[in-house]
Amino acid sequence: MNAAPSTVLVVGATGSIGRLVVAEALHQGHAVRALVRDLARARGLPQQAQRVVGDLTRAETLAAAVEGIAAIVFTHGSDGGGKAAAEQVDYGGVRNVLRALGGREVRIALMTAIGVMNREGAYNRSTQIHDWKRRGERLVRASGPETGPDLVRGARAARRGLRHLGAGPAHELAPEDPKCRSTTDRTRTSSSTRARCGR
Ligand SMILES: NC(=O)c1ccc[n+]([C@@H]2O[C@H](COP(=O)([O-])OP(=O)(O)OC[C@H]3O[C@@H](n4cnc5c(N)ncnc54)[C@H](OP(=O)(O)O)[C@@H]3O)[C@@H](O)[C@H]2O)c1
Repeated sequence: MNAAPSTVLVVGATGSIGRLVVAEALHQGHAVRALVRDLARARGLPQQAQRVVGDLTRAETLAAAVEGIAAIVFTHGSDGGGKAAAEQVDYGGVRNVLRALGGREVRIALMTAIGVMNREGAYNRSTQIHDWKRRGERLVRASGPETGPDLVRGARAARRGLRHLGAGPAHELAPEDPKCRSTTDRTRTSSSTRARCGR
């Protein structure tokens, strides 16, 4: 794809990453559609961003969100919601949006977490978030856009990932950080490392 996408859907638009993505996408001249589950929480989003209400756990609410889009930036997360929410939101959200797309080809950037390959850490054992995010990555890889998806595993990389929505090859940004592999005990790791590793 050479031209900039006409409409970018931001999933998780009201979150701390999603808000930055909405602002950056508008700054780059894209039309932005923000998926929100509660319009009240979208009050702080820029007026230029179109709000569409939908719940990632309910596929039947997502048709309007994907109508006519050229690209999706997934920045949703279930953080704090427990194992069931990790499955239903982190993974289920990706699955349901792709289902709503019905095989139409769009550019996809998926934000997961820098520690997503860490299966044995205490954080993943208690939440299974990394496991479900990894499965979400597999879904978008298998969804088959010709150029492949952009997989983004760190907060700063989310912003960089936007640059690749309009053109160019797929990127896997912020690959696994060796520190995330070795820090398995949440109580012994620094808060900055935990944040960096998505814990
Ligand atoms: N923040 C970081 O530094 C960082 C670093 C690495 C990776 N990550 C990962 O990136 C993702 C986003 O991080 P964040 O800090 O932006 O998270 P956040 O502030 O908690 O935002 C999560 C977003 O997901 C939305 N969401 C949750 N469940 C939903 C549902 N059922 N239907 C529709 N939307 C739903 C939330 O909507 P509501 O506003 O309605 O709740 C919100 O917009 C997370 O998965 C996190 O693990 C974050």
